[in-house]
Amino acid sequence: MDKKPVAIGGLIQEACDLLAPEALRKNQAIEIDIGKELPKLDADGDRLKQVIINLVSNALKFGYPEATVNVTALADEFTVSVQVSDKGMGMAEEEQAKLFEPYFRTEQDRQRFPGLGLAVSKQIVEADGGHIAVESALGMGSTFTAVLPLQGRMLKNRKTVERASQKTDQQTRPN
Ligand SMILES: Nc1ncnc2c1ncn2[C@@H]1O[C@H](COP(=O)(O)OP(=O)(O)OP(=O)(O)O)[C@@H](O)[C@H]1O
Ligand SMILES: [Mg+2]
Repeated sequence: MDKKPVAIGGLIQEACDLLAPEALRKNQAIEIDIGKELPKLDADGDRLKQVIINLVSNALKFGYPEATVNVTALADEFTVSVQVSDKGMGMAEEEQAKLFEPYFRTEQDRQRFPGLGLAVSKQIVEADGGHIAVESALGMGSTFTAVLPLQGRMLKNRKTVERASQKTDQQTRPN
């Protein structure tokens, strides 16, 4: 692994640019909303970009045609949280627990080959000292949140990450 100070905003932009043709195919929009001066992360940039590509590509793939995929990044004292939300098929609650296992596929997913993207994404985020989670409702859509520690502030334990993640949920949850 090649950890360096990484500007997450640039990675998000590059990942979304790469997937623009994909979005066009189903007439979907990708909306990016990132804080102006996000602090740097201590991460492997190439691998982290792979995580964002997978989350946004999933959001387009399992999102409804014509719908918007929202990508946001928010910082607090310890972390940057990247959130990818779609309006799409979503998944049942019991499936959310298994989602990050290799080759898992939801009931309503009709793809021929089950994938590895989320299992790999989880590994990458955790190797960077972070944490990834999903919130979803069947037929409504999904929100994936990757919480990553700021440069020079390796999180000592998972609890801190979870607290940060809850805070992000509260900040971004619609009323
Ligand atoms: N945004 C989403 N909405 C609904 N279901 C999802 C979403 N993201 C992932 N899933 C479900 O989780 C499964 C696993 O996702 P994952 O990214 O690991 O695999 P994949 O996208 O099918 O293949 P790969 O990422 O390897 O190309 C998907 O096949 C799908 O059933
Ligand atoms: Mg995928």
